[in-house]
Amino acid sequence: MNSPRNASQHNSSFLSLKNLSWQKFKKLSVHEKACLFNRDHRPYHTIYPQQFDRSILDYLCTLATYIRRIAKSRAGVDFLSGLLSHKRAMLYFTQPSSRTFLSFYAACQYLGLKPSEVRDAATSSELKGESGEDTLRTFSSYFDLIIMRSPRQGFAEKTAHLLSSTERPIPIINAGSGKDQHPTQALLDVYTLQRSFERYGGIEGKKIMFVGDLMRGRTVKSLSCLLTNYPGVQQYFVTDPRLQISKESLEVLDQAGVEYQVESDFDRMIPLVDAVYMTRIQDEWSQKDEDPVDISKYSFREKHLKSLQPHAIIMHPLPRRSEIAVECDKDPRAIYWRQVRNGMWIRVALIAATFRADEEIANYYRRNLA
Ligand code: CP
Repeated sequence: MNSPRNASQHNSSFLSLKNLSWQKFKKLSVHEKACLFNRDHRPYHTIYPQQFDRSILDYLCTLATYIRRIAKSRAGVDFLSGLLSHKRAMLYFTQPSSRTFLSFYAACQYLGLKPSEVRDAATSSELKGESGEDTLRTFSSYFDLIIMRSPRQGFAEKTAHLLSSTERPIPIINAGSGKDQHPTQALLDVYTLQRSFERYGGIEGKKIMFVGDLMRGRTVKSLSCLLTNYPGVQQYFVTDPRLQISKESLEVLDQAGVEYQVESDFDRMIPLVDAVYMTRIQDEWSQKDEDPVDISKYSFREKHLKSLQPHAIIMHPLPRRSEIAVECDKDPRAIYWRQVRNGMWIRVALIAATFRADEEIANYYRRNLA
């Protein structure tokens, strides 16, 4: 495994973030901002999927696999847990979460990094009127990493910018920001796709179908963007017109020259694709007087299994409601529970790369397991 490239370019980019005002920063394109958040061609702050090009994605996936194999032995677990035992992490999750929170918590524990948590803004001094920005700056006095999920769109980005110009800049990982982005879910999805298609030529050239709430689902936005790194991937957006993918997400694909189709006939599309990515209705964002959308036509039922190709996979970021029948769980092509597990390994890899513990892991792997 070679270290990701372009080290010097990204070093100087990071330095300039420190001196850039919020007003100037806001006006940059997402690609310019994404560049500023990387350091030595590794993510320092993890805020957008645009920070991950193909070489970083391949690097993190390989690192996650090394870590997964190292962690199979007691000696390996002991090695990993010594890597960041001098660091502390704050998990600031003011939106509900099971998988992202717990997998990051477990990822910290694997690396020996001591996790603390705030899971409700009402238990912090925000209840007394302190701003979110001051709250996050306070955390940076005590911790070496902040992993945050917030209903506020763009808050992770704002925090990363704010902390970069303080005396104690620390990395920020966006664990879900508003309806906006969920970059680490996209990383685990890519890792899962890569592992699933290892024997079928990789992710390149595959047909990926997104189903459900494509308008408000941040996992779809982030994964759709990351998939632009894989040549020949065709993306299908299949749902009720009221829940269709946004114009902005399609513009990302247009700019990358990616083929896509916007569809509404779920049953017709199932036999044509290599991966079905189901999502739930994100009705926590609905207006009170909004008529609910009938999603039953966009639900994966047991009867659909017979039209799915033998090598194809069914994914879901979870949590699910009724959009995948539980009877499908026992089919080997249903891999959403594997996604859950992969999420922990790729998050260990991401944190290790953030703190530059990645090369030590690769060396250990080469010495002991290659
Ligand atoms: N996929 C995902 O983000 O799950 P949680 O909301 O449980 O973290």
